[in-house]
Amino acid sequence: MKRSSFLQRTLGLVGASFLFSSFSSRKISVDFSAINAESSPFSLPALPYSFEALEPSIDRLTMEIHHDRHHKAYVDNLNKAVANTPMANLSLEELIVNISKYPVAVRNNGGGHWNHSFFWQLLTPSKTNPSQELQNQIIKDFGSIENFKTEFTKAATSRFGSGWAWLIFKDGKLIISSTPNQDNPLMDLADIKGNPILGLDVWEHAYYLKYQNKRADYIASFWNILNWDFVSSQFAKVNK
Ligand SMILES: [Fe+2]
Repeated sequence: MKRSSFLQRTLGLVGASFLFSSFSSRKISVDFSAINAESSPFSLPALPYSFEALEPSIDRLTMEIHHDRHHKAYVDNLNKAVANTPMANLSLEELIVNISKYPVAVRNNGGGHWNHSFFWQLLTPSKTNPSQELQNQIIKDFGSIENFKTEFTKAATSRFGSGWAWLIFKDGKLIISSTPNQDNPLMDLADIKGNPILGLDVWEHAYYLKYQNKRADYIASFWNILNWDFVSSQFAKVNK
């Protein structure tokens, strides 16, 4: 599958599924296929739930600062980085998959925009479970769901400094990886490239207010709010 086609499908489904959500104050109004296709000026997508919806796993203030300040800063700085250059005519998708060609400010802020747009969809206040197909693949590649969680937690815990842990699907197999800063597995310079179906932000800004230095506790709580429906939908798209 062409990477562009994966990207379109990765974020394209989300808008429709959330259009019918009943979250009180922040109904989704963004078609996420537009995020991959958007070019300068880039914009901050709305959260698909309220700031407090993920409590107690992630507190309201952390979500507000994370989305309204950190993610917004990535968007604003990406716009500044591409302004008045030929990059202003490229989509986010085109920038990400060829990121080695572009300045580090585009790598950091373009990655930050894509990663956070993806991450918000991976969280939910609802109880969800992996699809049968995804469960089967996890058991095939990791032995059990619990063992997968253990291995993913190790990758997320051991990422030094700021970065992300990922579950990617590549060559018929699920693989756990991690990237520094705002890199992701879709970037042409990633050590392990593949299609991400799950990603966890382990920057301190994602958890420090509530968990301080206890990243492991934040990761343990993450499993309670992981949107397995979204992960399963991503897996279904790439497992063809
Ligand atoms: Fe973040």
